[in-house]
Amino acid sequence: MKQKLIVGNWKMNGSLAANAALLQAIKQGLPADNKAGAAVAAPALYLAQVQAELAGSAIGVGAQDVSQHEQGAFTGEISATMLKEFGVRYALVGHSERRQYHGETDVIVAAKAQAALSKGITPIVCVGETLAERETGQTETVVKRQLAAVIHQVGQCVSELVVAYEPVWAIGTGKTASPEQAQQVHAVLRAQLAAASDKAARVPLLYGGSMNAANAEQLLAQADIDGGLIGGAALKAPDFLAIIAAAQ
Ligand code: G3P
Repeated sequence: MKQKLIVGNWKMNGSLAANAALLQAIKQGLPADNKAGAAVAAPALYLAQVQAELAGSAIGVGAQDVSQHEQGAFTGEISATMLKEFGVRYALVGHSERRQYHGETDVIVAAKAQAALSKGITPIVCVGETLAERETGQTETVVKRQLAAVIHQVGQCVSELVVAYEPVWAIGTGKTASPEQAQQVHAVLRAQLAAASDKAARVPLLYGGSMNAANAEQLLAQADIDGGLIGGAALKAPDFLAIIAAAQ
């Protein structure tokens, strides 16, 4: 049975005090026999705090973005090397909010994934369609195009990826994809990965988009849903812990 992975994406939320309280509650609430992988992706400013708070715990530190560049005149960007200094194990790449607000193209996302891998950070490659794309039958085309760019860039390292399917229309809306809808896209992504590498079965496929304590069990019961990428529910310790509990 493959271990499931639950990653909290805090987005642009938190404060030193709130982060300390949230992480303390998560650490204290995590059962000693927890079998699921867990991580939190905090705003970059807080990575040192998160690293310190999670030291000695099995909960991983994540970043919400990573530069595709190694160093130099890239104002405001943060390299994989820098993230590594703060114990970062995962980096989100291509989150729909960054594709939308920062013009991140499939090529840029692929370069970010490569930069993360080159420094031993696991990229969590986010793919997902908009409501208009779903309503016009473009879902598979869109997610396969987004993932293909990364597969092309990273080659045989594809087995070191984590992929998150996040239908844009489900993010922050409370309109979660049904387990059947999510599984259907996850199966497409699994087949695409299998065509690229015989180790594709190892690539965790996370679902993100209004996953919460009430729907997590049904979603995580799907054959090709290996975990979740959690936004709003990750900011509330009881909800985040309930989702981890559903991932055993
Ligand atoms: O990256 C996870 C995020 O996009 C999902 O947000 O609030 O719908 O769980 P939310």
